[in-house]
Amino acid sequence: MKIYPDNSVILAPLAGYTDLPYRSSAIRHGCLFAFTEMIDAGSLVFGHGKTLAMLNRGRNESFLGVQIVGSEHEILKKATRIISQHDVNVLDFNLGCPAKKVARKGEGATLAKRTEEAIRAFEVIVRNSQIPVTVKTRILDEEDPAPTIHLVKMLVDAGAAAVTLHGRIMSKFYSGDVKSRIIAEVRGNVKTQLIANGGVFSSSTCETLRSETGCGCVMVARGAMGNPWIFDEIREGRNFNPPTPDGLADEIGRHVAEMAELCGEEIGVRISRKLMIDYVKGRGYPGELRNSVCKIKTLEELKPFLDNVRIGPTPRYGKWIEANPDAPRRLMV
Ligand SMILES: Cc1cc2nc3c(=O)[nH]c(=O)nc-3n(C[C@H](O)[C@H](O)[C@H](O)COP(=O)(O)O)c2cc1C
Repeated sequence: MKIYPDNSVILAPLAGYTDLPYRSSAIRHGCLFAFTEMIDAGSLVFGHGKTLAMLNRGRNESFLGVQIVGSEHEILKKATRIISQHDVNVLDFNLGCPAKKVARKGEGATLAKRTEEAIRAFEVIVRNSQIPVTVKTRILDEEDPAPTIHLVKMLVDAGAAAVTLHGRIMSKFYSGDVKSRIIAEVRGNVKTQLIANGGVFSSSTCETLRSETGCGCVMVARGAMGNPWIFDEIREGRNFNPPTPDGLADEIGRHVAEMAELCGEEIGVRISRKLMIDYVKGRGYPGELRNSVCKIKTLEELKPFLDNVRIGPTPRYGKWIEANPDAPRRLMV
């Protein structure tokens, strides 16, 4: 059975982002499938309360995917059992993270390169899980599809209910072209649901990825940062259906308030500063608005920022949009 209906648009796991308030914001804009950020299997097992809280499902979440990263079999086994006891729909194994702190431990994308070892670790998760297990990984070579096909086939044989494939090799991190051809070759060689990932920043880039890879299901990552409207836009097949200044201010206010509720006001507002910048970025606001973010410490101090968001972009914005007709982040003015 397929994990996702055809043509689903899934919110990617994003470390430091896809917590409950972030996922709620995406859900308000029509996102039906979302993942927690990657959770270190060891942190789950050694019982850090904060890590366990990451497994909590929001009231408006009809689907919750949890992603873990790790390599040690005993730890993966215990982490899988913990997750299986929670109200979670899918457990995803991270075989794509290129970050140094993950690579150093031989996990994430580094583990994927050692295919046999990756498969053995994945089998431990599958054996111990009560819920469907999926994988998110990367292409292994930009020119030759064979190594990636081999990896994905092995994962499917080991029990992957779906595989998400990011079309960039590990050394490229998140930059450069997405190698859709490699994803398409994998698509042609496996029966299991394959989700294409990389470079979706608008409805049209989503369609391009779908048509070039043959994958109906796509995963959106950076395209959703500060832009939950992307889910509405893709669903409606409209490239630009951006918020009004009031809509943007309301969304920011709600998101930050939920962060304050989750983490306490001081910490919640502090970690929301990067979100405030993401929300206004590329929408024609003056630089001073972004600079003002670093001084916001309380919900009360957020109010003047939101008032400035409501004022709208600089007068030059209209001209800028004319000159940049494909710019994905916009404002309805
Ligand atoms: C800040 C940041 C955090 C990320 N965290 C995770 C993560 O926790 N787990 C994961 O599998 N991928 C993670 N990724 C990778 C994304 O899920 C996605 O694969 C990548 O950004 C490519 O998609 P995009 O081009 O649409 O952004 C992260 C990417 C970024 C930029």
